[in-house]
Amino acid sequence: MIASAQLLADLEPTVERLLERHLATSKEWFPHEHVPYGRGRDPKPGEQWSEDDADLAGATIDDAVRSALLVNLLTEDNLPYYFRSVERMFGRDGAWGTWVRRWTAEEGRHSMAIYGYLMVTRAIDPHHLERCRMAQVSGGVTPDPPTLQHGFVYLALQELATRISHRATGKMLGDPAGYDVMMRVAGDENLHQIFYRDLAHAAIEADPSGMMIAIEDQVRNFAMPGVGIPGFNEHAAAIARAGIYDLAVHHDQILAPVVLRQWDVEHVEGLDAEGEQARERLMVRLAKSERVARRVTERREQALAASV
Ligand SMILES: [Fe+2]
Ligand SMILES: [Fe+2]
Repeated sequence: MIASAQLLADLEPTVERLLERHLATSKEWFPHEHVPYGRGRDPKPGEQWSEDDADLAGATIDDAVRSALLVNLLTEDNLPYYFRSVERMFGRDGAWGTWVRRWTAEEGRHSMAIYGYLMVTRAIDPHHLERCRMAQVSGGVTPDPPTLQHGFVYLALQELATRISHRATGKMLGDPAGYDVMMRVAGDENLHQIFYRDLAHAAIEADPSGMMIAIEDQVRNFAMPGVGIPGFNEHAAAIARAGIYDLAVHHDQILAPVVLRQWDVEHVEGLDAEGEQARERLMVRLAKSERVARRVTERREQALAASV
C-alpha cells in the first residue's frame, strides 16, 4: 500500500481537475427557498408532538418514512466528525484543502434544508429529533477509515448511499415540497459521489493493490452512516422493510454499478500477491451479496403480492 503522502502527491493533478469540474457543474442553491415556511406555526412551550400535527400538504407518512427522515438528517448533523476525518486524510493544502472546505460548505446546507422542512411541517417529533441529535453528536461515533485508500472507497460508497436514501425518502413523502428538499440535497450528494468515485478510480491506477485491499475491506465492513444514532438498528430495519435502503439496494445500486462496473475490479491490472488475494475474496463476497440481493427482492415481492 503506497504511503498516503505519496498518494496525495500523485493524485494532486487529479484532484485539481475533479475540483474544477465540480465547481463548473454544481449550481448555487439556497436552503431557505425550499422550505415551505407558510406551513409553520409557533410551538407552544412543552407541547407534545403527535402524528396529527404534521402538515404534509395532505399526504401522510408511516414510521418507516419518519425513521428515514430522522436518520438522514442526523447523518447530516454529524458533519463535524466527517469533516474531521476528511481533513485529516486530505490535509489543508492545495486543491485537497480547497476541496475539503468546499465539500464541507455544501454538506452544511443539507441539514439546514431538511431541518427547516421538518420543523415547519412537523413531520417528525421535534423533541425526539433534538434529543437524538444531542446524543449522537455528543457521542461522535462515525466511521474512521484506517488509511487514505480506505477513505477514498468509503467516501465514494457513502455519498452514493446517502444520495439513494435521500431520493427514496423524498419519493415516499408524498409532499411535493418535501420531495423537492430531498431531491435538492440528493443532487449535491450525486456530485460528491461522482467526485469521490472518479478520485478512487485514479487511485486504483496509482496504487492498484492498496486500493484493492481497501475496497475488499470496505465492502466487507460497510456500515450505513448513522451507526451512532440512538435506536439505529430499529430505524435501519424499518427503512429496509420500506425498501428505502436494504441489502438489495446496496448491491444493485452501489456495489454493482460502482465496484463492478465503474471501478471494474475484475480487470484491474498490476496487482501484487496481496492485491490478488484481496480481489479473490472481493469477487466471492460480491457474488454472495448478489445472491442475498435477489433473495431480499424476492421476499419483498412476495410480501407485496400477499398484501394486495
Ligand atoms: Fe449531505
Ligand atoms: Fe455529500
